[in-house]
Amino acid sequence: MAKILENRQVSEDFYLMRAEQENDAKAGQFYMLRGWDDYPILSRPISVFDADEKSVSFLYKVVGKGTELFTKLEAGDEIKLDGPHGTGFPAVTGKVALVGGGVGIAPLYLTAKMLKKNDPKTTVDIYLGFSGKPMLENEYGDVADKLTVNVGGFVTDDIEPSEYDWILTCGPEIMMRVLYKKCEKQGVAERLYVSMENRMACGIGVCLVCSCRTKSGNKRVCKEGPVLLGSEVFGIE
Ligand SMILES: Cc1cc2nc3c(=O)[nH]c(=O)nc-3n(C[C@H](O)[C@H](O)[C@H](O)COP(=O)(O)OP(=O)(O)OC[C@H]3O[C@@H](n4cnc5c(N)ncnc54)[C@H](O)[C@@H]3O)c2cc1C
Ligand code: FES
Repeated sequence: MAKILENRQVSEDFYLMRAEQENDAKAGQFYMLRGWDDYPILSRPISVFDADEKSVSFLYKVVGKGTELFTKLEAGDEIKLDGPHGTGFPAVTGKVALVGGGVGIAPLYLTAKMLKKNDPKTTVDIYLGFSGKPMLENEYGDVADKLTVNVGGFVTDDIEPSEYDWILTCGPEIMMRVLYKKCEKQGVAERLYVSMENRMACGIGVCLVCSCRTKSGNKRVCKEGPVLLGSEVFGIE
């Protein structure tokens, strides 16, 4: 069990929770979280928002029973954290764009920090799309060379993929598909990595609930993902 250090509301339906946990979590990985005993039966997958050796943070949106229960937890309470699981974003270098929509912005904060730490010459432009009120602009601005925030429109309209060596994205599947198509049109489809958020049950590669069809057969998002090459996922009709 991990002790909760803070759990604060950061916008209308988003919370940021930090828990004490020794870890070696990488950007783009996720934990299975459980803040209750018996019900709901399944733990909930949430991406690592930020991490140091002694603590992990999660940015979560309240959408149902599990995430509603997370909001009740206070500093000093305990939560079960199982992870980190899955592949993280690759440590790419050069001119990098991070594109996030909705809860998909969560893994991009640590990703930006990781890329800059790995190679200080790497530039990281962050594009965030919100359907409602934007949040954490200062936090994302602090880890970006350039921050673009789109409210109520299409964040995919704001980016020119061919200007970048790599594009890493996480968000609604439709947003990532549109971005893939734009990359394809500009001849840079192989520069795109996507982080999938398929529904999960076990989170450890056993149940196959999270299977995703790719060019090279079905992949388990919790095990071979969540980060996959965009062309693997969206390059098939
Ligand atoms: C790898 C991975 C990383 C994730 N990272 C984050 C994160 O950092 N922050 C965050 O807020 N959420 C994240 N999610 C989504 C999160 O797991 C779900 O929102 C959560 O499990 C919902 O639990 P609940 O009990 O509150 O809602 P439920 O009662 O289970 O569902 C309520 C509603 O949410 C929808 N929903 C449930 N799971 C998903 C899902 N995986 N994708 C899309 N819609 C879903 C349901 O269809 C339903 O409409 C991630 C999911 C995956 C697979
Ligand atoms: S959630 Fe069970 S195999 Fe991925």
